[in-house]
Amino acid sequence: MLPAYLEQLSHILGPNDLVVSPAQSNPLLIDERQLYRGRAAAIVQPRTTEQLSQVVSVCAKANVAMVPQGGNTGYCGGATPDESGLQVLINLSKMNQILDIDAASLTLTAQAGVVLADAQNAAANQDMLLPLSMGSQASCQLGGNISTNAGGLAVLRYGTAREMVAGLEVVLPDGQIWSDLKGLRKDNTGYDLKQFFMGAEGTLGIISAAVVRLQPRPRAQITAFLETPDLASAVSTLMLLREHLGDCITSFEYMSREALMLTLVQLNDLRNPLPAATGNFVLMELAAFDDGAGLTEQLTRALQVAILKFDVGDCVVAQNDTQRGDFWRLRESIPEAEKRAGGSIKHDVSVEISKLSEFAVELQKNTLAYVPGCRISLYGHLGDGNIHFNVLAPPTLSAAQFKREFADPISALVHSAAINRDGSFSAEHGVGRLKRDLLASSKDPVGLQLMRKIKRTLDPNGLMNPGKVL
Ligand code: FAD
Ligand code: MLT
Ligand code: ZN
Repeated sequence: MLPAYLEQLSHILGPNDLVVSPAQSNPLLIDERQLYRGRAAAIVQPRTTEQLSQVVSVCAKANVAMVPQGGNTGYCGGATPDESGLQVLINLSKMNQILDIDAASLTLTAQAGVVLADAQNAAANQDMLLPLSMGSQASCQLGGNISTNAGGLAVLRYGTAREMVAGLEVVLPDGQIWSDLKGLRKDNTGYDLKQFFMGAEGTLGIISAAVVRLQPRPRAQITAFLETPDLASAVSTLMLLREHLGDCITSFEYMSREALMLTLVQLNDLRNPLPAATGNFVLMELAAFDDGAGLTEQLTRALQVAILKFDVGDCVVAQNDTQRGDFWRLRESIPEAEKRAGGSIKHDVSVEISKLSEFAVELQKNTLAYVPGCRISLYGHLGDGNIHFNVLAPPTLSAAQFKREFADPISALVHSAAINRDGSFSAEHGVGRLKRDLLASSKDPVGLQLMRKIKRTLDPNGLMNPGKVL
């Protein structure tokens, strides 16, 4: 016989929307990086906010812990239940309706389970741009993006997910619905409550719908692949380009030679746009609201200065959408290439952009001294001061053995280097379960106390994604 609360859930949800005692091999119980394998009393997939609210209310009354899950692409184990088998996994994939697109207000309103790429396409079909973009966009969901305050490839110009949210609807840990989907540009009536839920990784409530801000869609995108000797030169080049071109630079992504070569080896249908280059690389994109010819000329002139001043090398500009797609595929495939190579010890750190080069050079030196021969796949969102410092096994060790023996000490090395420079150990991927203890040991104590007070106020029984973040 089912426990009473599961019986109640079966009356709220359709027969295909509730799986009781799912097998541990169910992919929804394993995180993207396969660091955690959870168990669950049930997996539920509500279709409406009302259903979600009823589900949460039933679980809360039965004192059952809940784990919200979007596309399950997160990197910190935040969407995976623990091993007790007592938690309910609430997967939002069936709440996937786009509710409204308002061209005058430049907003899109959607249920939280809408896949990011579907939201991007819906905006593009109406000649607008949803600028949030990342390698996982075919799977991750708006609710997950907002809950992790995801960054991605165009933060430089448009900000992180948080900056794109104009309104939220949230099911609170007791099942109440808090709805603020008006999408107003201006509303100073007290605390901005939506801020609590963004970046909270599902620990304060479940986002059921959101209003996201759109942008006018650029008429032309200038996408350029540039050779650069090192990070320092790339940072100087970005500063120079900003002086010359203003804020039309939407992306400025760094790819170390090691990261690019690894990608070319692992995904052999990809091609290096600069095969003769011997240095590192930058992929940049600029947005124009005309045919882009003038901006391309300005870029060329600015790069001529960069060649003289900062020793940058050759540059190739995409001539059509196919080429643009090819350039981006190289950048977006780096995580997949690392996976195919057996996986890496991943990091997502940020420091002030002025400290970025010195930080990375020293870290590279220290890491290589610690594990001679290891491969460092360094790449990321240079324009945001955020790099992924991912470390792969040296040829003498298998990837599995390397990760088992070295994940903790190498991560400690990388994270302490970032923290010691007033940087962040998690620039965009969040905390989840993976970095919870690091947060507890490194966050300012007053800030941590405030976070705990907020958690206790909104979730006094600790039922919403327990063991994550805090
Ligand atoms: P999930 O993984 O399902 O969940 C993430 C967290 O949010 C969990 O704590 C979960 O409990 C919570 N959550 C999910 N949905 C809700 C909801 N509706 N309400 C409340 N809480 C919820 N991240 C970046 O920031 N930038 C990148 O460039 C980037 N690139 C990536 C590339 C690849 C190939 C991959 C695999 C991942 C990448 N990521 C990146 C990480 C990941 O895609 C993002 O963190 C994304 O925002 C997670 O969305 P999701 O829907 O998959 O969330
Ligand atoms: C990216 O920028 O590609 C991701 O955030 C990093 C990763 O997938 O490891
Ligand atoms: Zn990233």
